[in-house]
Amino acid sequence: MDNFAYSIIAAVSKNGGIGYKGDLPWRLKKEMAYFNRITTQVNRENTQNAVIMGRNTWQSIPDKYRPLKGRINVVISKTLNSVPEGILLYPKLTEALKDLYSNDCVEKCWIIGGTGLYNEAINDKNCKYLYITKINQEFVCDTFFPDFDPNNFEEIFEPYIPKDIQEENGIQYEFKVFKRL
Ligand SMILES: NC(=O)c1ccc[n+]([C@@H]2O[C@H](COP(=O)([O-])OP(=O)(O)OC[C@H]3O[C@@H](n4cnc5c(N)ncnc54)[C@H](OP(=O)(O)O)[C@@H]3O)[C@@H](O)[C@H]2O)c1
Repeated sequence: MDNFAYSIIAAVSKNGGIGYKGDLPWRLKKEMAYFNRITTQVNRENTQNAVIMGRNTWQSIPDKYRPLKGRINVVISKTLNSVPEGILLYPKLTEALKDLYSNDCVEKCWIIGGTGLYNEAINDKNCKYLYITKINQEFVCDTFFPDFDPNNFEEIFEPYIPKDIQEENGIQYEFKVFKRL
């Protein structure tokens, strides 16, 4: 699996939270637009990216927004028996990644949550990049981004990622990208 580089994307509050009661703890339309842009954009023609998510994250997406359009939607679950047509279901992340990377039509794989998948990915050397939106505010949360060793990552700057502080509904946040060392 050495060539299977893939990435994490997450929005994380100051107290490390990512979710509350099966939903996002905040409403940030522009942050959501950023998530959609970053996970959808491809460099090669006739390819799409895959967005890989746990069962709860899949079930948290409102019907009108799922499947996430323009991307191959992949759900990791050992208990779900079926998913709608066109959605890929795997019991294990490693099995999903193996199939996705043997498919020429897939450009990038994005881990989009929640905690269990972030934790598995952040401890896997093939997960090379973390796209983290740092929300500079504390929120009541019941789901958290896993602890990880920041010494394993360095911040990088991509030309297509805004560097300035964003603000929506009085909430400030920044787009950060980290590369595994
Ligand atoms: N802020 C953000 O960027 C962000 C991103 C995504 C989600 N969220 C929020 O986070 C919450 C959902 O996340 P969650 O952590 O509760 O659940 P989740 O990871 O989406 O789903 C958990 C389920 O997914 C499967 N799963 C997860 N990790 C796995 C692994 N490594 N290997 C195999 N199967 C795995 C298991 O399903 P089975 O039990 O069926 O086997 C597990 O019970 C919601 O509140 C959502 O809004 C926030």
